[in-house]
Amino acid sequence: MSVTVRVPAKVNVQLAVGAARPDGFHDLANVFLAVGLYDEVTVEPAEELSVTCAGTDADQVPLDRTNLAARAALALAERRGIEPAVRIHIAKDIPVAGGMAGGSADGAGALLACNELWQAGASRAELLAICADLGSDVPFSLVGGAALGTGRGERLTALEVGGTFHWVFAMAGRGLSTPAVFREFDRLAEGRAVPEPVASRDLLDALAAGDPDALAAAVSNDLEPAALSLFPDLARTLDAGRTAGALAALVSGSGPTTAFLVRDPESATKVAEALRTSGTCRSVRTATAPAPGARVLPSPRGT
Ligand code: C5P
Repeated sequence: MSVTVRVPAKVNVQLAVGAARPDGFHDLANVFLAVGLYDEVTVEPAEELSVTCAGTDADQVPLDRTNLAARAALALAERRGIEPAVRIHIAKDIPVAGGMAGGSADGAGALLACNELWQAGASRAELLAICADLGSDVPFSLVGGAALGTGRGERLTALEVGGTFHWVFAMAGRGLSTPAVFREFDRLAEGRAVPEPVASRDLLDALAAGDPDALAAAVSNDLEPAALSLFPDLARTLDAGRTAGALAALVSGSGPTTAFLVRDPESATKVAEALRTSGTCRSVRTATAPAPGARVLPSPRGT
């Protein structure tokens, strides 16, 4: 018996960041959009908890109990008084340390998979609460679609999306640490007042209308200057995508993956090809949004 859950990556179409809070986190107005790049998390009974990973950048994924998938299994097991005796396998397709919530996806995926495997019966609300304990982006990985995250990003309000958006993503040659990018944001903000983060009405309207031009005009990421300060070469990738005809180019979350909103599949192919040959990134992917949240896949015959 095994259970496999498929979980999407995300891009932040708006990431408004407030001043650092006393607990070190930042209040956000974080508009998440799930995109069709997926990790698959499979769990099966075993003697003891273990994590394995295969796929893109698998060698960069920690396999100990710092892995969010392991922490998710442990959190659910502890709440239910169950032995966390499970083998977790991650088939990785979301870039690691890329600002696309790959680690969070694995946490949400493992949680949903273990809930099913153990028939633990945790409600949606309980799963979301465990996700919020695991990390700020984990609840969104569970729900997918589009949502506004407030607080540190974990308090979600579902958003309407009126169409399909086409994206191109450029993966960078190395990762960026999310805490380091927030620290750089604080350093760059020193000596100036940081406004309260507020979701943009124009952006929410553009999402609801499914209008790529209006969305392109409204996207923003307050972490982008910090990511560029730590990784100046990303500016070249952004320029290459803009020159190739992207409607908007931005750093995804804390980066260093760069995200390009394009009008249609033809434009996606053109921008992807230009980025591939630009020499400014390691690899390029296209994907559409919104994508559904974490989902249990039908089990293959015989398991
Ligand atoms: O919640 P998560 O573990 O994903 O956060 C990783 C790090 O990102 C935090 O330790 C913190 O440095 C930073 N962060 C933040 N404000 C947020 C979310 C994350 O400062 N709202």
